[in-house]
Amino acid sequence: MAERGLRKGLTSYGDAQFSLFLRKAFIKAAGYSDDALDRPIVGIAATGSDFNPCHGNMPALVEAAKRGVMLAGGLPMAFPTISLHESFAQPTSMFLRNLMAMDTEEMIRAQPMDSVLLIGGCDKTLPAQIMAAVSADLPAMVLPVGPMVVGHHKGEVLGACTDCRRYWAAYRAGTIDEAEIEAVSGRLAPSVGTCMVMGTASTMALMAEALGLALPGSGSIPAPHAERLRAGEAAGRLAAEMARSGHPRPSEIVTSGAIRNAMTVLQAIGGSTNGVIHLAAIAGRAGLTLDLEALDGIGRRTPVLVDLKPSGRHYMEHFHAAGGLPRLLVELADLLDLSLPTVAGGRLGDALTQPKDRHPQDVIRPRGEPLKREGAIAVLRGNLCPLGALIKHSAASEALMRHEGRAVAFESLADLAARIDDPALDVAAEDLLVLKNAGPKGAPGMPEAGYLPIPRKLAERGVKDMVRISDARMSGTAFGTIVLHVAPESAAGGPLGLVETGDRIRLDVPGRRLDLLVEEDELARRRQRRATVARPALPERGYARLFQESVLQADRGCDFDFLVPGGKG
Ligand code: FES
Repeated sequence: MAERGLRKGLTSYGDAQFSLFLRKAFIKAAGYSDDALDRPIVGIAATGSDFNPCHGNMPALVEAAKRGVMLAGGLPMAFPTISLHESFAQPTSMFLRNLMAMDTEEMIRAQPMDSVLLIGGCDKTLPAQIMAAVSADLPAMVLPVGPMVVGHHKGEVLGACTDCRRYWAAYRAGTIDEAEIEAVSGRLAPSVGTCMVMGTASTMALMAEALGLALPGSGSIPAPHAERLRAGEAAGRLAAEMARSGHPRPSEIVTSGAIRNAMTVLQAIGGSTNGVIHLAAIAGRAGLTLDLEALDGIGRRTPVLVDLKPSGRHYMEHFHAAGGLPRLLVELADLLDLSLPTVAGGRLGDALTQPKDRHPQDVIRPRGEPLKREGAIAVLRGNLCPLGALIKHSAASEALMRHEGRAVAFESLADLAARIDDPALDVAAEDLLVLKNAGPKGAPGMPEAGYLPIPRKLAERGVKDMVRISDARMSGTAFGTIVLHVAPESAAGGPLGLVETGDRIRLDVPGRRLDLLVEEDELARRRQRRATVARPALPERGYARLFQESVLQADRGCDFDFLVPGGKG
């Protein structure tokens, strides 16, 4: 029988008994008894950090989870890992997601634990933790930190960060002054927890539930609520049972059926485009490929039912009060495989809200009255994106769903910053803004720069949306007609790099096409010219070098090739 608890994964000294003796001697320094040290061990991956206000409730959640573990007779052992906050990671948190996944995976492998409870929430943290758990394949479950509660300003309900962008756009257009934007900055994020719109954090927490990796309802309980702590205690109890039984392992949970369920939920919640990248990376760790055509097909069958910003009106606390994911699953039941197992020990179907517990509400729509007839995200193909591109059409302008116009191209983020507000910029409202070299390798790290600002001179004239195309990502909290994740990216030789100002581009979302309307011989000339331009030198050392050498394109989740089974092949 495999060793358990403290006897597991002994440090190499060439004498196993001595290794155990030494380990016990050191841990006794922390005051543990032999009885405690004989229990199954639950590792708790704690991601509190002063640089991560979204995880500000981490100490209380860790305490609650420890209580749950001990109530179930286990020994909780909390350990730190890298923590990432969206606004405190330069150049972008996405650059560091794989580092956090590697850190978490190796700490799960290196330390003696029989199961692991992963507590995270801010955008990249849950994806990194789930990727790590799938690779380590130790019994694992997820506890999201939960969303913030809403803020208020002049009688209006506010939320990070859809309203951050709306107010910033108003400030740029001169509609509100400096004093007001300062006041708003103090009200957009009124508590600890993750952004309370349907951004990436909310999307990932709900997809973790849909995958079967988190307790039913735990994706949406607001961070400051007492119920969140009770969810922590319940998660601790469950993790202790998993430590004792050795099941389920992520390989029993993260199957192709579970990935399909997560895609259905992603479409129905009006989820973040980032959810597609992270789900592709999670699937990749399980040896699966995220099928973008299947995602698009699911989107055509699955309406957006959740009325949350940025696609709709409400916020996460309202979604939770309406019944959360268990209530949404009732509406989606015929589109899901409810027979799949979850960490809770039963089937996904066990989580569905019972009829007696369904109350009238207007956040989770019935199938007959969807918020949008189709799902949130469409997959585009065409000569501008041979490996695909995404558009969150649920949060885009209807009038721009079919649009042909002139490209205004920017070579890089620096070029964009230098020229976008130049009064001399030759740009009109009907043009398409194109940003190059902002993908996984190009930026690097594929920043959330796809939400190109409307040029100031157009914003001042009241232009609120334009078609914007890039190989970057976009915050899940953003609204606009924004084509993202163009793959291959320009820095990897993709056709996006060939676009020049004045070219014509056609976007056809209903037809799922994105095409550069330039003759093939002209494109061939541009390709030849590009081949003569020297590539930027690789970073000399460290993680930046590893990243450049190993990162995969968006369609494969931007994971590192050597972390994916068969990824180097
Ligand atoms: Fe942490 Fe939005 S910044 S979830």
